[in-house]
Amino acid sequence: MNIFEALRESHELQRSLANSLIETSGASEDRKELFDLLKNELYAHSVAEDRYLYIPLMFNDVGLDITRHALAEHHEMDELVEQLEETDMSSPSWIATAKQLSEKVHHHLKEEEHKFFQQAGKILEESEKEKLGKKYLAEYQKYKNADT
Ligand SMILES: [Fe+2]
Ligand SMILES: [Fe+2]
Repeated sequence: MNIFEALRESHELQRSLANSLIETSGASEDRKELFDLLKNELYAHSVAEDRYLYIPLMFNDVGLDITRHALAEHHEMDELVEQLEETDMSSPSWIATAKQLSEKVHHHLKEEEHKFFQQAGKILEESEKEKLGKKYLAEYQKYKNADT
């Protein structure tokens, strides 16, 4: 599996968790569970993606631009997750922020899949795409299995 195929698997999961999360209400078990799952998925994916897609791209000029943009968005998503952790789950502002996070996640994944991955595909060698895919998956699994 190359790096892009591996990344897209987590993207599908992020989309479905974000969609389900914004359908929950109040401080329910469903909401708590889905928030934990989404938080863990976003964390494991972004750590492994930063290390095995974006850092290698930074050595190329176009890659550097893509990377700066993507890392800024990862940071914005982290901040929304933090804001959710600090807000009472039953308050209306929690779901408003969760919707903002969901929109940001969808926007970010679309931009990666339709723009950044296409550009990155031209920068990386085929053999590198396979190697990075393996490294990404190992790193992702490590954080998926850890408590975050
Ligand atoms: Fe990303
Ligand atoms: Fe991604």
